[in-house]
Amino acid sequence: MKMELLKGDLTKIDCDAIVNAANESLLGGGGVDGAIHRAAGPQLLEACKKLNGCPTGDAKITPGFNLPARFVIHTVGPVWKGGINNEEDLLRSCYQRSLELANENNFYSIAFPNISAGVYHFPKEKAAQIAIETVQAFGWKHELPKKVMFVCFDQENYDLYKTKLNLIR
Ligand code: APR
Repeated sequence: MKMELLKGDLTKIDCDAIVNAANESLLGGGGVDGAIHRAAGPQLLEACKKLNGCPTGDAKITPGFNLPARFVIHTVGPVWKGGINNEEDLLRSCYQRSLELANENNFYSIAFPNISAGVYHFPKEKAAQIAIETVQAFGWKHELPKKVMFVCFDQENYDLYKTKLNLIR
């Protein structure tokens, strides 16, 4: 598995699936969730309504509709409450379940935002560590997905991921 780092807008990435940092209702929101729904168009919300929500730490899949990405994997990250509510395991589970869905669907490429690192206030450095560790460990045991992109919208996250990825290369 190859891990790539990009700075930019996840809604512009042409790959098998982009991962949405959603909330448990799956009915849209702000941040990357809002950007994905705007770019995908109203059919995405219609498809999400049929999924009956998603528990924190789990992931569900829909088509990508007007997005360049063929599918959207909606995962729900934990809200950071000081680290005493199993937040780290729940964030790890978001990456793990998203990768499992990509593998089950035989996807070659998948792109992640920095799940929970925005509105949900998960400490960015810890979130980046969990993301990279979970993806790397999954790649040791699975052929697919072959390409995992981390798409950072802001410079702070980009610099964090760059430092961490350079350490393991
Ligand atoms: N492309 C890539 N990354 C983006 C984009 C974008 N277009 N827009 C925002 N981001 C980044 C943010 O900079 C942040 O680093 O996505 C990361 C996750 O931030 P949020 O979108 O706020 O997601 P999260 O912290 O997981 O909070 C989820 O926010 O939008 C609501 O409905 C959503 O309730 C849910 C909550």
